[in-house]
Amino acid sequence: MMEKASNASFLSKNPHLFEIKNLKVYFPAQTSSLIRRKYVYAVDDVSFFIDSGEVLGLVGESGSGKTTIGRVIARLTPPTEGKVLFQGRDIMSLRGKDLKNYRRMVQMIFQDPYGSLNPRLTVFSTIAFPLRVQGIVKDKNKIREYCIDLLRSVGLSEDAIDKYPHELSGGERQRVAIARALAVKPQFLIADEPVSMLDLSIRSGILNLLMELKNQYGLTYLLTTHDLRVAYYTCDRIIVMYLGKIMEIAPIEDFMSHQFHPYSQLLLSASASFGFGDRPKRRLGATGEIASAIDPPKGCRFHPRCPFRTEECSKKTPPLAELRNRRFVACFNPQ
Ligand SMILES: Nc1ncnc2c1ncn2[C@@H]1O[C@H](COP(=O)(O)OP(=O)(O)O)[C@@H](O)[C@H]1O
Ligand SMILES: [Mg+2]
Repeated sequence: MMEKASNASFLSKNPHLFEIKNLKVYFPAQTSSLIRRKYVYAVDDVSFFIDSGEVLGLVGESGSGKTTIGRVIARLTPPTEGKVLFQGRDIMSLRGKDLKNYRRMVQMIFQDPYGSLNPRLTVFSTIAFPLRVQGIVKDKNKIREYCIDLLRSVGLSEDAIDKYPHELSGGERQRVAIARALAVKPQFLIADEPVSMLDLSIRSGILNLLMELKNQYGLTYLLTTHDLRVAYYTCDRIIVMYLGKIMEIAPIEDFMSHQFHPYSQLLLSASASFGFGDRPKRRLGATGEIASAIDPPKGCRFHPRCPFRTEECSKKTPPLAELRNRRFVACFNPQ
């Protein structure tokens, strides 16, 4: 048994499921200036890894680049620079059969369960379509049965199968979206703000379902959220993003007991005011709105809002450094 495992790791030199290396995604900005072309630095030199079996959270305010990272990994958006390695292979180099298999293994659940389902397709057609494309169920007569089983596993009853999206509630639609993602037997799920458009009362039901399915099918998740409470509830590890940059990476329990980055402290104190977690001991003087990803501040992107900034912070970009085991921080004055 031991022999086999070490052989397998010899074949795949990369110990991580995913490795994201110096990823940059720049979009041309819509500006009135015809003279100077501007860019939105949506993701700017981001590196991290995802281990098999973990729930990794991408946390940060709106506009910090979370969705863009998810879309690059799902191969929906090409990177401007940098690489995403899946089991050691650059996903942009995948072709033919390998690409088809990647598209099966990596599934995405979107924030908006209204927009992500085709209003003209019944639940059955919605789930059966990817099954047919990927040839998951060989016997045509078994497809309906397979779909009913899937619906049950996401907590829906059998009679949902012939309904249209408008006949379902938001929570039911998100369950259908989850069933569609699971239908093709994926290995990795990107859940992009999976509950932020749902009523508070049904959020924990969907999050619980995602966690149960993860354990049941041995999945790995990348979960994006602007809400630290959702991250705390679901994630093993989190990455705190701000304006396209990583501020901090930490195992969640460790993060809750101490945040090194002033921005992380700000995020936590914002959640604390919603009745969550302990307030950080020090009151933060951080103010202001999130700056723009079109003209991001020089140096550390958070420095204009940071109560601990020094001159260095406005001149140089702090590198992401490992302060202690599995804890990375990009800050010249970690707290
Ligand atoms: N297709 C696009 N074209 C232009 N700008 C985009 C595009 N997609 C995202 N952006 C911009 O990139 C930045 C990051 O967006 P996004 O990844 O959606 O952040 P988040 O998910 O954290 O809210 C934002 O400023 C957003 O407006
Ligand atoms: Mg988003």
